[in-house]
Amino acid sequence: MMGSNLKNLVWLLCLSLAFVGCDRESVSSVDPGSEAKSESREQSDTAQAELTPVATQAVAVNDWLPPMQVPVDNLSSEQKVALGEKLFADPLLSLDQSMSCSTCHDRESGWSNGQSFAEGVNGQPGTRNSLSILNVGLYDKGLFWDGRVLTLEQQALKPIFEKTEMAMDSESTLLERLNSHPDYPALFGAAFDDGVTIANVARALACFERTIVVRETAYDRYVRGDKTAMSKSAIRGLKIFSNPRRANCISCHPAPMFTDQQYYNIGVGMDKKDYDMGRHHVLGWGSFGKFRSPSLRGIDQSAPYMHDGSLPTLEEVVEYYDRGGIRHKYTDTAVQRLRLNDQQKKDLVEFMRQGLAEIKE
Ligand code: HEC
Ligand code: HEC
Repeated sequence: MMGSNLKNLVWLLCLSLAFVGCDRESVSSVDPGSEAKSESREQSDTAQAELTPVATQAVAVNDWLPPMQVPVDNLSSEQKVALGEKLFADPLLSLDQSMSCSTCHDRESGWSNGQSFAEGVNGQPGTRNSLSILNVGLYDKGLFWDGRVLTLEQQALKPIFEKTEMAMDSESTLLERLNSHPDYPALFGAAFDDGVTIANVARALACFERTIVVRETAYDRYVRGDKTAMSKSAIRGLKIFSNPRRANCISCHPAPMFTDQQYYNIGVGMDKKDYDMGRHHVLGWGSFGKFRSPSLRGIDQSAPYMHDGSLPTLEEVVEYYDRGGIRHKYTDTAVQRLRLNDQQKKDLVEFMRQGLAEIKE
């Protein structure tokens, strides 16, 4: 399966080495991942420094999705993807060997975990809904609900050393485990010149994650001219979704990714006394309760929804927007009562469920 995914990645000659530029500046100036770093134990800064991207290359996915921005020092290969896939599912990466990345990002649960909140080793509570990693390679302006990290390479080590997640106590423990494993030394050797290193763990995981994309949906076929690809109800739903005088979802979830990768406060959780301040942790004033608008490609797979997992179904998401969300002085004024009738609500759900579902060949 991975082989065919890989073949689908058509390598573009890099037009020019695009520096990560202003996006990187805005994120790195506030010390990305500072929260995570203070929680982690003996993780040295060396691996993270090694993973800071210098330049990225645009790699085409297909004709209708934007290209992925891949760090030039970690272009994909079949060996890296295979190693990353194995590491992703391996509990060896957690201190007590009880959980892997897949525990919270399970293929069967839309690469999320089907629960409102993530739970770390020993049932340590997390504070946010496991983000689905479907389409994650397409985000080039910031990862996590609050955009505190820029690249998948930089992100990958954080959950491993995070106390409330996999809680690994030191880099040397992890290196020891990998080096004494029957398969890993050879697999790392095949994938990287310098074999088993902490930075290479991150690089392999990132290469695997970039293969997890909803490449084709009924919507893509519909806009390419196949008018029968979407059901009648989904076509009506698309119109409600896109109409500035109806639901206008498109203003924050524009095609083809169905996200603009910007941060908004749509009111979720704002009725709680100590609400999650989201992007405020990263940027400070002006970002209270803002979260990244998620891609809706394949959204039917990754319930429950929102950063706090508070909405169990797409029907409930539509009801939430229809009543104008949770009003609060920081809630975006774009979120207003919609007064959709029952059929319009059904059509909107049908568009997301049928129109944006992944079509697997
Ligand atoms: C205990 C549960 C848990 C484990 C284990 C875990 N994650 Fe996550 N992951 C989360 C949660 C929760 C978030 C959202 C956190 C936030 O936004 O603050 C997340 C977010 C992410 C994101 C960002 C996605 C996006 O769209 O921006 C990536 C990538 C990711 N995880 C990869 C991994 C990898 C790789 C591993 C294994 C090394 C891993 N995760 C292990 C719970 C987990
Ligand atoms: C003002 C920008 C904005 C508008 C307008 C908007 N959204 Fe969202 N959407 C967001 C943000 C931001 C989130 C994440 C919010 C959070 O978790 O706190 C989100 C989350 C979602 C989710 C859950 C995604 C997930 O992975 O959990 C769905 C589904 C969704 N929106 C659909 C819609 C639909 C349908 C409409 C139109 C009725 C709409 N959105 C209008 C910004 C917007």
